Amino acid sequence: MNVYETIVNRRTVRKFKQTPVKKDDLLKLINSARLCPTGANLQSLKYSVVTSEEKRKLFYPHLKYAGYIPDWDPSFEESPMAIIVVLNDNTIKPAAKAEADSGAAIMSMSLCAVELGLDTCWIGSANKNEIRKIMGYDDNLDILYVLAVGYADQEGEAFDSDETVKYYFDENLKNHVPKRTMESVLIDFE
Ligand SMILES: Cc1cc2nc3c(=O)[nH]c(=O)nc-3n(C[C@H](O)[C@H](O)[C@H](O)COP(=O)(O)O)c2cc1C
Repeated sequence: MNVYETIVNRRTVRKFKQTPVKKDDLLKLINSARLCPTGANLQSLKYSVVTSEEKRKLFYPHLKYAGYIPDWDPSFEESPMAIIVVLNDNTIKPAAKAEADSGAAIMSMSLCAVELGLDTCWIGSANKNEIRKIMGYDDNLDILYVLAVGYADQEGEAFDSDETVKYYFDENLKNHVPKRTMESVLIDFE
């Protein structure tokens, strides 16, 4: 798959096989984030990788999945085998200024993951206080986002829609993701 095809075909996955993710693959993801563009090249982002069962068990209840599908309550047996916490070192840059940097880094990791046969879920609804307690991060590190990583146990597909933004799971748990149409997002092309 080339980069464009990877971007078009990548979909958020929230149900994972219980196959361990190779350490080298996770290091590749972090390296893809490390080399991303950052404002003023300040590189304030740090990464914390969680793979141990002990830590994942503590972590999992503090990640919130699929806000549009409140009835879906995935078990630990469906959970991601790797979790990457994206942090900002506030001695380098304030967290509010690191938002765009973290977006670039998370997208790089998400696309690199697809190339490695992995999938991801970018998670903003994580209980940061609880995660901080579990991991004991230093005070200079702000938790920005969490990236769930693993081998997909769920398919996903985008469809064009200007009617709804709510993704839904069908009876096979396939994720159907509406995307606004080209006509509605491309406002000028002169
Ligand atoms: C900033 C941000 C925060 C997100 N937070 C969550 C989250 O807390 N839980 C979740 O299940 N998905 C989360 N997502 C994933 C989105 O729901 C997903 O990207 C969207 O439904 C579009 O699907 P796609 O990634 O397959 O294109 C987040 C995505 C972004 C960019």
